[in-house]
Amino acid sequence: MRLYVNVDHVATVRQARRTDEPDPVEAAALCERAGADGITVHLREDRRHIQDEDVTRLASSVTTVLNLELATSEEIVALACRLTPHQTTVVPERREEITTEGGLDLTRDVARMHEVVQRLAGAGIRVSLFIDPDLRTIDRAAKIAGVTAIELHTGDYANTYRTSDAGLERLRLAAAHACQAGLAVHAGHGLTPRNVSPVAAIPEIEELNIGHTIVSRSIMVGMIAAVREMRELIDAARVD
Ligand code: PXP
Repeated sequence: MRLYVNVDHVATVRQARRTDEPDPVEAAALCERAGADGITVHLREDRRHIQDEDVTRLASSVTTVLNLELATSEEIVALACRLTPHQTTVVPERREEITTEGGLDLTRDVARMHEVVQRLAGAGIRVSLFIDPDLRTIDRAAKIAGVTAIELHTGDYANTYRTSDAGLERLRLAAAHACQAGLAVHAGHGLTPRNVSPVAAIPEIEELNIGHTIVSRSIMVGMIAAVREMRELIDAARVD
């Protein structure tokens, strides 16, 4: 199971003062030292945390792999094609949202999605689509040429796991369905030390993207300890 650490919120703290600390590039290097398999950042259209220069610096400094999350905006797709990170994860974006609230709607702007995926894949970048754990959406993703993986949105599970098993069951079914459709399966959003283990135990899931809780915890115990804690929980949940 790969753990990719999302360092967006290191940049959130920096942007609160528009200064040069804390540096997400320095944080990424610490995550790698602590056992992260990759670094994830989301370059949002409103540039509320990660900036273009951060992505450029990460593209040349990351020693594991870089996973760039992006919406389908032209300018950011062009930047991705220029920097050729190992992976891009296409996400929906709404300016007024606090975080990515749901997965992609693959019934809308289909032509644009096909075009973006083709350009990214054509540049040699692995392409993943961030979607809800919905079987029909998985089937739609599987039909888009150039899509290698889907990332299942775990936000609903994270909001409901205390009172219901339904969210976990949906993730299990979706992971199995996507795997059968020939897609690699990733997951993320809202995962924390309290809820990560059942998701990490789903055998088809090969990559987790985790950000907010690790950056939060790093304020208390340091980035290396925060990544190691998550790494140990994930590794302990796997039987393979
Ligand atoms: N995966 C995707 C596609 C995301 O957009 C985010 C949030 O930026 C995450 C994973 C990480 O979510 P969290 O910060 O809640 O761990």
